[in-house]
Amino acid sequence: MIEIASRAPPPVLAIDGPGGAGKGTISRLAAERLNWHYLDSGALYRILALAGKLKGIALSDESALSDIASKLDIRFGTGSDERIWLESSEITDQIRTEQAGAAASAVAALPAVRAALLERQRAFRRMPGLVADGRDMGTVVFTDAIVKVFLTASAQERADRRYKQLIAKGIDVKLCDLLADIQTRDDRDSNRAIAPLRPAADAVLIDTSSMSIDEVLQKVLGLVDLQTS
Ligand code: C5P
Repeated sequence: MIEIASRAPPPVLAIDGPGGAGKGTISRLAAERLNWHYLDSGALYRILALAGKLKGIALSDESALSDIASKLDIRFGTGSDERIWLESSEITDQIRTEQAGAAASAVAALPAVRAALLERQRAFRRMPGLVADGRDMGTVVFTDAIVKVFLTASAQERADRRYKQLIAKGIDVKLCDLLADIQTRDDRDSNRAIAPLRPAADAVLIDTSSMSIDEVLQKVLGLVDLQTS
């Protein structure tokens, strides 16, 4: 007799929320602690916008962008290696600028682009588990995630954090410009017709404005623990 084992799919911890709420930091640390894989879905949109620019494709050319989205040759470093390659070039810093973020937000509003990147994101789901960081991980990409977290922080707090990061890197910016950029991006991400930024009905909301990284991490890991133990 052939026994068919019922195999549960690899568990997913979905972490969504607006830019600057601490998703990247918390997701990376959670993946490290759990020893799970990590998906930085925002990086995919950023890389696509960059690839489009390099090929001279307009940010509004939905069909050309979705066409290259499914063929992009992307490589992510593993573990603590945060480097990213597009074809043979390392593009880690190039996709982290404010302009790259704004371009990513523009291409992310195109339905065909989101559809083209869907399977690509789901392919990151492997044993022993996946921490997925983005805007629609819990609402669209991994609706069966075992834990869904929606991290928020006030726009002012997110602008302050970003300001400190950029100043520490020696990049000269104005706090008021960063705040305006954050508000514009929030607005576009929350009001777009497809996969707008919003918490899943079953997501746990965490406002990180006055929490330390460690407090947020412990809270998130505690939620995973409840589901896996
Ligand atoms: O998270 P990050 O700032 O890298 O994302 C860049 C942009 O990509 C976001 O402003 C958002 O417009 C888009 N994005 C998205 N869906 C995701 C991840 C990112 O629409 N899952």
